[in-house]
Amino acid sequence: MNNIEEIVKKASEQIQKAQNLEAVEALKTQYLGKSGEITKLLKSLSEYSVEEKKKIGALLNCAKKDIEAEIEKRKEFFASFETEENMKKERTDFSSAFSFNFPKGHLHPISQTIEDISAIFKSLGFETAQGPEIETDWYNFEALNHPADHPARDIQDTFYLEGMKNLLRTHTSPGQIHVMENQQPPIKVIVPGRVYRNEASDASHSSTFHQIEGLSVDKNVTFIDLKSTLTLYARNFFGFDLDIRFRPSYFPFTEPSAEMDVQCFFCKGKGCGVCKGTGWIEILGCGMVHPNVLKAVKYDSEKYTGYAFGIGVERIAMLKYGIDDIRLFYENDLRFLRQF
Ligand code: PHE
Repeated sequence: MNNIEEIVKKASEQIQKAQNLEAVEALKTQYLGKSGEITKLLKSLSEYSVEEKKKIGALLNCAKKDIEAEIEKRKEFFASFETEENMKKERTDFSSAFSFNFPKGHLHPISQTIEDISAIFKSLGFETAQGPEIETDWYNFEALNHPADHPARDIQDTFYLEGMKNLLRTHTSPGQIHVMENQQPPIKVIVPGRVYRNEASDASHSSTFHQIEGLSVDKNVTFIDLKSTLTLYARNFFGFDLDIRFRPSYFPFTEPSAEMDVQCFFCKGKGCGVCKGTGWIEILGCGMVHPNVLKAVKYDSEKYTGYAFGIGVERIAMLKYGIDDIRLFYENDLRFLRQF
């Protein structure tokens, strides 16, 4: 009887360790086959008395069942592997039973537009930099060649912070100064960010909006570089079916200065409410960096020249998506945002 118990124990151990189906089959033969260990014992039962036959016979049958069960268990273990054959068998896919179908979000149309514009300038060799939203007078005005009495310095246009020492940047142009203070030419960089102006909001104005500043400084940079770069940008972004034009303009920190218009997306140049009847929509300010700005950051203004531009992101997003009220961008109304 002890012997039978030991055989079962040994068989179980071996079966559990078997490394493949063939090994399991071999063990089955070894214990339960025609001349297997258990089979042999069953055959030898005739040697015993009726009483003993009953007892030992019952034990042997139990042993046989135990070993068979162990073999089945091991076979199932191998069958669960991802063999080619198993893959072909039909399986139940439980993964969907546990999915909750969370709604998937996406970028805000303003972020999306910043990414799209940045990608074009990246392809033209521009790096990306960041600047702070809280600035001093030096970065926002002084270093950018604003005369002391420039109207933009007025408290009606600028949000000054407590004590009037700091302010919320009114444009991304202070980013130019930070970049030039920290590195030497050649420079080719864009600075996207949020800007603030102390003005009432309406369909086309908001006290908070976004700009992308651009700056390129090197030896021999000319107005041709400015025009070709910005034309490439506009063509990439708006396509060839919308005309563009440069108009002379004025900014304290560029000379000469210009503004770039794109043909009105809504009326294709015929004149409508959106373009106020002109057929054109202004999308950026630009110009050659003023020598005084180069001097402010201690660059040699005889040696280096550069161009700069500032793109209004909201205007472009409005043009691209056909939105006629800038306030929609900031209301976080999901019915609006889900359309993008
Ligand atoms: N900072 C200007 C504005 O906010 C735009 C600009 C940037 C113009 C760089 C020229 C060069 O209107």
